[in-house]
Amino acid sequence: MGPNPVWQAEALVGLMPLEPGMRVLDLGCGNACSSVFLAKEFGVEVWATDLWIKPEENLRRVVEAGVEGRVHPVYSEARSLPYAEGFFDAMVSIGAYHYFGTDDLYLGYFSRFVKPGGRIGIVQPGPVEEYETLPPAHLEEYWKWDFCAWHSPAWWRRHWEKTGLVTVEVADQLPHGWDDWLQWNEACDLDGGTPGREEARMLHGDGGRTLGLTRLVAHRNS
Ligand SMILES: C[S@@+](CC[C@H](N)C(=O)[O-])C[C@H]1O[C@@H](n2cnc3c(N)ncnc32)[C@H](O)[C@@H]1O
Repeated sequence: MGPNPVWQAEALVGLMPLEPGMRVLDLGCGNACSSVFLAKEFGVEVWATDLWIKPEENLRRVVEAGVEGRVHPVYSEARSLPYAEGFFDAMVSIGAYHYFGTDDLYLGYFSRFVKPGGRIGIVQPGPVEEYETLPPAHLEEYWKWDFCAWHSPAWWRRHWEKTGLVTVEVADQLPHGWDDWLQWNEACDLDGGTPGREEARMLHGDGGRTLGLTRLVAHRNS
């Protein structure tokens, strides 16, 4: 659904070591591709949690991928998660956290589900620095209102640090994030997928000047 979730998951796992048997939350997992990847590559057990994609669809994919019993598809709203506090060893959210996580109070809710010391990693679209005006002039023709939730690494760092609940270890833009995002949309366009062409036009319009993929890795303070 988002700019290749497996590439984005790869960009997180180098910074948040995963060991076999760990319990991992993949929040906003969409089609659960990242969940399957994490289970297959690292032997972790993943709770593939999403709102828009039916868990039955993800279960079919999980069975086909041979990771049944290691990836658990769950239907849930991000603000009403059905988990015990401290249940997860690590939590990731790929191309999804900005849909709910810009609320100042959300991290306080979300971080309680990972063990103290456990890592939280997110990647989503964002500008290298906050735009002074919205929409930014050079992207006006492509802009959709909900892009206002795209934020820079510095914005996310402050957003999380001001809670005092986590220690941010990394807040940056993915190296080659713009290229990956564009390449993904061009592939989707060839395949007739969404958002494909329109988003590729926007990325060409930006020319890699401002847009990319924002990455954050933090651990929960005890
Ligand atoms: C752009 S898709 C990304 C999906 C997948 N992680 C990927 O990269 O392909 C955003 C995902 O966020 C999920 N999402 C958005 N708002 C949500 C909410 N309030 N609670 C749970 N999931 C939410 C949607 O269900 C959707 O699958």
